[in-house]
Amino acid sequence: MNTHSTDTGETAELTFRGKTLSLPVLTGSEGEVALDIANLRKATGAVTRDYGYLNTGSCESAITFLDGEKGILRYRGYPVEELAEKSRFVEVAYLLINGHMPDANERRQWSSLLNQHSMMHEDMRHFFYRYPERAHPMAILSAMVVSLSTFYPELSQHRPDEPEEAINIAATRLMSKLRTIAAFSYKKSIGEPFVYPRHDLKYCANFLNMMFSSPVCPYDIKPEVVQALNVLLILHADHEQNCSTSAVRLVGSARVNLYASVAAGICALWGPLHGGANQMVIDMLEDILASGRSVKDYVESVKASKGKELLYGFGHRVYKTYDPRAKIIKRSCDSVLKVLNVNDPLLDLAFELEEIAMRDDYFVSRNLYPNVDFYSGIIYRAIGIPKEMFTVMFALGRLPGWIAQWKEAREDPRFKLQRPRQIYTGPRIRHLEPEHISSEA
Ligand code: SDX
Repeated sequence: MNTHSTDTGETAELTFRGKTLSLPVLTGSEGEVALDIANLRKATGAVTRDYGYLNTGSCESAITFLDGEKGILRYRGYPVEELAEKSRFVEVAYLLINGHMPDANERRQWSSLLNQHSMMHEDMRHFFYRYPERAHPMAILSAMVVSLSTFYPELSQHRPDEPEEAINIAATRLMSKLRTIAAFSYKKSIGEPFVYPRHDLKYCANFLNMMFSSPVCPYDIKPEVVQALNVLLILHADHEQNCSTSAVRLVGSARVNLYASVAAGICALWGPLHGGANQMVIDMLEDILASGRSVKDYVESVKASKGKELLYGFGHRVYKTYDPRAKIIKRSCDSVLKVLNVNDPLLDLAFELEEIAMRDDYFVSRNLYPNVDFYSGIIYRAIGIPKEMFTVMFALGRLPGWIAQWKEAREDPRFKLQRPRQIYTGPRIRHLEPEHISSEA
């Protein structure tokens, strides 16, 4: 499969201080256009400055295509709407990591490997008991993931060309163990005994069982809840070069093993501007409900704050229209709450908030629409997942994307250590004054 852009033969001319540099024009398989500035500094002595990399492509990738203006999202060419409706999360994970949907034999093998690797080393259980009572599960998740590299050292950091087999085992271990670690961190937080994975349950049902069953009360696994969880994990599975995926690629570019690279991604995802927003949305809705303020009044206060206060779950770096994932999650809210017979006042608040914001020029003029985080927490709440675990759920979903992107980076012959440039604006050269020179020096 061609995973490289095409040189269109066109060039963009850059004239700088009397010299003209021809920048090759590249195009991707969906017609995206890029200027190749690989020779810029050598030819002009200048670097580019692009805060937040709004205009900078860090790589070429064949994994996920999204069009922020049209609200399009596809994994390896398949529309996310189709995958959410017709596939299971483990099949989409296989697609992202391997580049094709699994056939029956590959599905069986993948499922058996996920079962085989679902337990974690018994010594790791004790780690959970050393965390303070209110330890945030994202801190535990990242620490546990990087600790996996100590129990499974098959991915050494110093062999540039890791054998494919070792990488695939580490990827499968991570896919299966992250789910177990997440469930164990929840059980520890509520003081209940760990529930081990079962080989007779599929991925999502297994997770729900580890989360909610107990020695005295088996968990009633509802197919509609399993389906809703599959959809949520699929919708979070990858999203091209977002902040946490860029962290995984950047850390991985130093030839760090997969576990340590994913642990970096988990830390980046935790941020309230990124994956941590799903927990912030519920905090925001609970604050509005508890304050007795009208939604309209709250929205006005956000506008008046001039960016200091945010409407969490709104806005996106790339989507300048409704996030296609938010549309699907919003539809799922209704069905899941009906099945669980849950009437959540926060859902009514969320609907009202969206309706008011979508009619307000402040948000419309800034292309601020609901994103993937706006409604996901409503479903997690209805299932019984506490809000501190919402970003852990995001990480569970995003894991196959992180793995796929980490592998793609390593397999790319243009793969280089990522080390951006800067524009220095500090003091010019100066020397120590006599009074600064240490008498002990
Ligand atoms: C995810 O990148 C990905 O793909 C991420 C993700 C994925 O799947 O990996 O999609 C997951 O992280 C979704 C985003 C979750 N974050 C939130 O919901 C937090 C709230 N959103 C904002 O923090 C913000 O919208 C960002 C960070 C998501 C995007 O911000 P940008 O692209 O840096 O845009 P910006 O900050 O320059 O904002 C432009 C304007 C500013 O106002 P002005 O200076 O023009 O007057 O819009 C305003 C901002 O103040 N603005 C908001 C707002 N988001 C932007 N105002 C109120 N509420 C908001 N949510």
